[in-house]
Amino acid sequence: MDLEDTLLMMPGPVPVAPRVLRAMSKPMINHRSAEFAAIYDDCREILADVYQTKNDIFVISGSGTAGMEAAVGSVVESGDKVVAIENGKFGERFKDLAALYGEVVPLEFEWGTSVDLELVKEKLEAGAKAITLVHNETSAGILNPAAEIGKLAKKHDVLFIMDGVTSLGGDEVKVDEWGVDIAVVGSQKCLAAPPGLAMVSVSEKAFEVMNDVKKRPYYNDLKAYKKSGDKARTETPYTPAIPLFYALQEALHIVKEEGMEARINRHRVLSEAVRAGVAEMNIEMFPQLNEYSQYSNTVSAMKAPEGIDGEDIKGDMKKRGIIVAGGQAHLKGKIFRVGSMGNVTARDVLSTIQGLEIVLKKRGCLDGLGAGVEAANSVIDKL
Ligand SMILES: Cc1ncc(COP(=O)(O)O)c(C=O)c1O
Repeated sequence: MDLEDTLLMMPGPVPVAPRVLRAMSKPMINHRSAEFAAIYDDCREILADVYQTKNDIFVISGSGTAGMEAAVGSVVESGDKVVAIENGKFGERFKDLAALYGEVVPLEFEWGTSVDLELVKEKLEAGAKAITLVHNETSAGILNPAAEIGKLAKKHDVLFIMDGVTSLGGDEVKVDEWGVDIAVVGSQKCLAAPPGLAMVSVSEKAFEVMNDVKKRPYYNDLKAYKKSGDKARTETPYTPAIPLFYALQEALHIVKEEGMEARINRHRVLSEAVRAGVAEMNIEMFPQLNEYSQYSNTVSAMKAPEGIDGEDIKGDMKKRGIIVAGGQAHLKGKIFRVGSMGNVTARDVLSTIQGLEIVLKKRGCLDGLGAGVEAANSVIDKL
C-alpha cells in the first residue's frame, strides 16, 4: 500500500496540505523568544475567530485528550460533582476524567441516541459544579445540542466544559454566545493540521474557579498556561512542539484564507453528500435523532448492511486506497464511519462513494453502480 497515495476519509487524522508539511521542516527556534511569541499570538488570533470567542485560548502540546484532561482537571477536584453527558466513546472519556478528578454524576444515553434535555435539567437541578458535553460525538456521528446545554448550565450556574474536538474549525461553534466555559479542539481534525496539539479556550468564570482548586494537574494545568500566555512576550509553560506550531500556524492561515463561513458550508454540504450517497445504497445512518440533535457535519456513521461486518467494509475500502473508520468499542463491526473534515474536497467524497458502491456490489448488497455517486453529486452541486 502506497502511504503517500492514500485517501484518508477517517475522522482524524486528516490529510494535511503540502504547505503545512513543508512548514514543519523549518529550523528550530528558541521557544522563549519574540519569534515564537509571534507564532503563538497569530495562532491564538485566528483561533478566536474559529471559536467565536473573546476568551483566552491556549495551545497544549498533546492530543485532544490532553485538552480534555486540562479542562476537567483544572476546575474539578475531589468531591466536586460533574454531570457527564455520554452518548458515545468521547462522552465516556469525559465521564472517566470526571470520575478521576471529582465525583461523576453520569448521564448515559445509548451510544448514537440523542441527549434528553429533561434529564439534563433534572441532574443540574440536583446541583453540580460542572457539566461536560461532546459537541460532535465522533464515535456515533451525532451532533449534540451545545447551545441548549449552555443555556441550562448558565441557568444553574454550572461550568460548561465542551469537547469541540471534531466540530471546531468545521462546524459552527459559538463559544461566547453559547456560554461555553472551556472548549477543546484537536489539531488533526477539522483544522487539518498534524496530530499532537490541543487548543483550549477558557472563560473568566473558569479562571476564577481554578484559583480555588488546590490539586490541579501538573503538565495540563490551565492556570500555568494562563500565566505564560499573559506575559508581554507570550509563551507556553513547557517546551512546545515547535514543528507542530509551525504546522498549526500554516493550517490556520488556510482556514483564514477560506473563511469560516465558507469552510462550515463546505463541511455541511460534503457530509450531506455522503449521506445522500449512502442513502441511495440503502445504508442506514446510525444516529437516532430527536428535535435537538443532528447528523454530524464532519463525520458520518452508518450501520453496516445486514450480514456484512463493518470491519470488512473498512478492509475492502483500504484495498482500494481509501481509509474509512470502523466502530469503536461495542460498535466495532456494527457501524462504519466516513470522515469529511479538514480540507476534504468534492473529489474526495465522490471517490469514497464510488469506492463504497464497488465494495458493496462485490459483496452482493448492491445491484448496479452509479446511483450513489449521482445522489452525492447532486448535493455537491450546491457548493
Ligand atoms: C470528539 C473527540 N473527542 C476527543 C478525541 C480524542 O482526541 P485525541 O485522540 O486527539 O486525544 C477524539 C478523537 O477522535 C474525538 O473525536
